[in-house]
Amino acid sequence: MTNQAELESRALFPQLQADVYVNHASLSPPSQPVRAAIDAVLDGYAGQGMAWYREEMQRRERLRDSLARLIAAPADSVALTANTSAGIIAIAQGLSWRARERVLVFDGEFPTNITPWQQAARQHDLELVWLKADDFRADRHAALERFEAELKRGVRLVAVSAVQFTTGQRMPLETMGELCKRHGTELFVDAIQAAGIVPLDVEAMGIDYLACGSHKWLMAPEGIGFLYVAPERAAALEPNMAGWLSHEDAFAFLTRAPGELRYDRPFRPGALMAEAGTPNTLGAAGLEASLGLLEQIGIERIFGHVQAWHDALEPGLIERGFRSARMSDGSGRSGILSVRTDDPAQAPPWAQALAERGIACASPDGWIRLSPHWPNALDEPGRILAAVDAIRDAGGPA
Ligand SMILES: Cc1ncc(COP(=O)(O)O)c(C=O)c1O
Repeated sequence: MTNQAELESRALFPQLQADVYVNHASLSPPSQPVRAAIDAVLDGYAGQGMAWYREEMQRRERLRDSLARLIAAPADSVALTANTSAGIIAIAQGLSWRARERVLVFDGEFPTNITPWQQAARQHDLELVWLKADDFRADRHAALERFEAELKRGVRLVAVSAVQFTTGQRMPLETMGELCKRHGTELFVDAIQAAGIVPLDVEAMGIDYLACGSHKWLMAPEGIGFLYVAPERAAALEPNMAGWLSHEDAFAFLTRAPGELRYDRPFRPGALMAEAGTPNTLGAAGLEASLGLLEQIGIERIFGHVQAWHDALEPGLIERGFRSARMSDGSGRSGILSVRTDDPAQAPPWAQALAERGIACASPDGWIRLSPHWPNALDEPGRILAAVDAIRDAGGPA
């Protein structure tokens, strides 16, 4: 078995059961190299116990560097976390808030990027300001004007997902980042629906904080993610979620001569403070392997391939009476192609009917969401359209 990733090839996913798997926006099945990397960690610990830990510490260094490259961030600005939530909570709890400060969030977002801000608002008497994510799809120009109007009234932080999980709308991060800078607002981005499929550049986009999980477009197992904190924001973060590994030189008392067991070591700066306790080494190994595959092909090429896949499917679905959420402007597109019928309640029955015909997709909040990745072949759209016709011929979804 080679470890070579090739566009349109499922050779590295021999166990995948669905004929067409277009649900990467929910969860990616692990490839053979991901499974082999996890097995190797288990073998290491099974054979060597604690002596294997060193290998994993070195892997973490490599992984932080690879993730920093993925989002064009400087080294040491990225930490490994358990998931997107852990990164968001670290920031929501780590900023020193003042009462009545305003936090701008978006109606329509996945709740991961809402709950921690609601909690911070409750604790610190903050005001949450709501805009509608979908307005940026309907009329981007008008929505950006409303966005800037809110910034002018004074907003401490904007929290937004790079890609909306329902419609696949890619948010105008560069413009938002520019406006945030102009008005002295901090920008927080949930990148889980973007990283691994959409090119990201935290500096060009003016992003101050970015949190991400890895089981979707990064194609790693669950329980491993990362957090980015811009170097200029690092010093202001409070260690409110710190644990024993958040300190500098945290291992000294375990490996050096007596006298190192102290509780006053300084905290590691910025994102690294969020690495509080014993990490998920199996997940990290899986993530390192899946990133290696993504790097073989390259994010730009994967994005182009997925757009070709969407191009091959979208017109056929529209001809058949579905409405597409896909933006006409390429800069608003992502890995997600979502469609709906006139009745949003029909989305789950459609997803179910497609699943019965071997097509795995999702139905979040009234949308039929198709999310292919690099292994998806360009003959799949034709097979999906044939399945749609067959479902209709049989009387429609249940
Ligand atoms: C936009 C978005 N953010 C976050 C998550 C998940 O958050 P977490 O990694 O904390 O489970 C999802 C999907 O599960 C999502 O679609």
